[in-house]
Amino acid sequence: MDGEKSHPSRKTVLRAALAAGVAMPVAMIGIPALARTAATNGGTPALTPQCDDGDDPTPPQTEGPYFKPNSPRRTSLVVAGTPGTRLTVTGYVFGLACQPLGNVLLDFWQADVNGAYDNTGYRFRGHQFTDGRGAFTLTTIVPGLYPGRTRHLHVKVQAPNKPVLTTQLYFPGEPRNNTDPIFDPRLLMTVRNVGSAREATFDFVLNVAGNPPTSTTTPPTSTTQPGGTWAVGTAYAVGSRVTYGGQGYVCLQGHLAQPGWEPPSTPALWRAG
Ligand SMILES: [Fe+2]
Repeated sequence: MDGEKSHPSRKTVLRAALAAGVAMPVAMIGIPALARTAATNGGTPALTPQCDDGDDPTPPQTEGPYFKPNSPRRTSLVVAGTPGTRLTVTGYVFGLACQPLGNVLLDFWQADVNGAYDNTGYRFRGHQFTDGRGAFTLTTIVPGLYPGRTRHLHVKVQAPNKPVLTTQLYFPGEPRNNTDPIFDPRLLMTVRNVGSAREATFDFVLNVAGNPPTSTTTPPTSTTQPGGTWAVGTAYAVGSRVTYGGQGYVCLQGHLAQPGWEPPSTPALWRAG
């Protein structure tokens, strides 16, 4: 029992343990304070299997009118010369039992520096998957403002074989946070300025019991699937067609099929057709 202050501290410890377990890539320099917390405590805390820090699942929010399927798989939405303040968002995806979740699909979309969405192409749209530690990194720009909304990122998050969480992430200190009726302070990122860029962190908590991150110990399941051509380990491209359980499906996002990503369970990846 840690009292009401346990919410951030437990998550902090958990994140620090994850961060300290590996050599820290450049993309993770956004959480040095967490790493220092672990160091000053004299070591890396172990993950506890019965961790219960009272974290509520990340709240859902409206998708809005600008989501498009088929986003490219990429962790960076910028190229040299892309206008806008550079923004790196890093974080982890956890299940309810506090364990990090690997192979979680994150599909980000946002406005450009002028507050406009690309509804004909895929600028500032991209999906990726958490690694074995449940970590993700998005390289992008600070989105521009558009009428009626405060500054935000859109994202869909889906663990294998689980429902899609659609939500939005917000920036602290934005004047419009006080007037945007959709704004939710539980979805505020931690943001700091680093030179002319910004580094943000946010951890998702999915409403799933969760399992340890999938690894090579996960047995292939392609031989046990009923009557379909869909198979684990197959690289599917956008537009690929498979059958599964007697139903045809069309691939919406290029990906490498994982256990639990059967078409009926992953609407972000497959649609019937
Ligand atoms: Fe939006």
